[in-house]
Amino acid sequence: METAVETGIDLADLAFWRRPPAERDRDFARLRALDRPVFFPERRVPLLRSGRGFYALVRHAEVVEASRNARVFSSEPAVTNPEPPGWVKHVFGDSMVNLDDPRHARLRRIVSRAFSPKRLAALDGHIAAAAARIVDDVVREGPRDFVRQVAARLPIHVICDMMGIPGDIRAKVHEHVDVSTAYTGVRMSLARTAAMAGRNMAALFALQRLVIRLGRERERAPGDDLVSALVTANVDGERLTPRELGSFFTLLLVAGNETARNTMAHMLRLLTEHPGQRELLAGDFEGRVAGAIEETVRVVSPIMQFRRTVTEEYELRGVRLAPGDKVVLFYGSANRDAEVFADPDGYDITRRPNPHVGFGGPGPHFCLGANLARQEIKIMYRELFDRLPGIRTTGEPELLLSNFDNSVRAQPFTF
Ligand code: HEM
Repeated sequence: METAVETGIDLADLAFWRRPPAERDRDFARLRALDRPVFFPERRVPLLRSGRGFYALVRHAEVVEASRNARVFSSEPAVTNPEPPGWVKHVFGDSMVNLDDPRHARLRRIVSRAFSPKRLAALDGHIAAAAARIVDDVVREGPRDFVRQVAARLPIHVICDMMGIPGDIRAKVHEHVDVSTAYTGVRMSLARTAAMAGRNMAALFALQRLVIRLGRERERAPGDDLVSALVTANVDGERLTPRELGSFFTLLLVAGNETARNTMAHMLRLLTEHPGQRELLAGDFEGRVAGAIEETVRVVSPIMQFRRTVTEEYELRGVRLAPGDKVVLFYGSANRDAEVFADPDGYDITRRPNPHVGFGGPGPHFCLGANLARQEIKIMYRELFDRLPGIRTTGEPELLLSNFDNSVRAQPFTF
């Protein structure tokens, strides 16, 4: 039986993530063909703490098993890999993605108010208006970079609308977000990391301060907005402290901004590369757009991996795991598992069922913003298909070197 060493594949090595996506996919297929999770010793990465290594969960069934069983597969102390630097933990440490129940459940219960069907439905008009303005600008400016002109603009706008961030501090919020999303602390581009970590940290702290201050104001004089709803008690007497509100907002920006934007950018490329699928979508947009979004999230896997830490002895596919062992859930690999998906490397917007794990596996941490992401991508593409029916990519995307998010920095296009 082949081991990881014999395959020559090393998921802990930055060089692996530099290779073209198609080559990486072929290597993941070879890892899936081995019959058990493989251990990768950690590489020393400057600025990041090195740990003792991790088991790679590359099959769909393994990712599902670990996501479901949060008692054994803990999200504490953090879900990123390698171990994030201390300042990242300070900013995000008490956000729910890095917590287990009961603390996780309490926060999730409170902030779920933000994602109720009623709240989301109320955003529809705002999102459509923002999408229309984006297309107006694109028509005026002419097509240059789809990421900057379209994909990057909508998600941050939607998050600010959702939170009810007042107009007078929006420009500041946007400015801080621009700086802070240039680096999230988990990417492996070290030159960038060194140059940007300081500025990022400052921007994130400034953002948090703005939102904490807003939370305090709304605590004293609540209005009809979401910030007020979160910092004042619900029927069970639960509410966020202004500091928790600050952490939640930065989590939303990190979890909901890049992911949605990258999905939108990759989707235009996929539809261009697969003209038959594009025709299908254009032929019945309302009937097929939901399937197109799910298939895009499957193929793209905007978040490539999250980590769990084992809390007790556990056997997973013949491997004995011990407390403290790390496992990394490779969503992109699980989403191409031929045991679950026919023609896993294809792009089929009519695929049904499509049990991808792009929004996380089933379990307590399943993406809280999945419906919001679906809604904003649908509305943006409706506007694009209606007004710029010839829209398509004209060249290769510029991808970010990352082991974490499948990020598009730039994408040339035309209409
Ligand atoms: C296509 C877009 C998106 C993708 C692919 C995505 C992916 C994910 C994944 C994989 C997780 C699971 C984390 C885990 O199991 O540890 C997650 C959690 C989360 N996502 Fe998303 N996400 C997207 C959009 C959004 C948006 C738009 C928001 C909000 C504005 C959002 C908010 C969250 C939050 C708050 C969590 C943490 C949930 C918890 O720990 O209980 N996401 N997301």
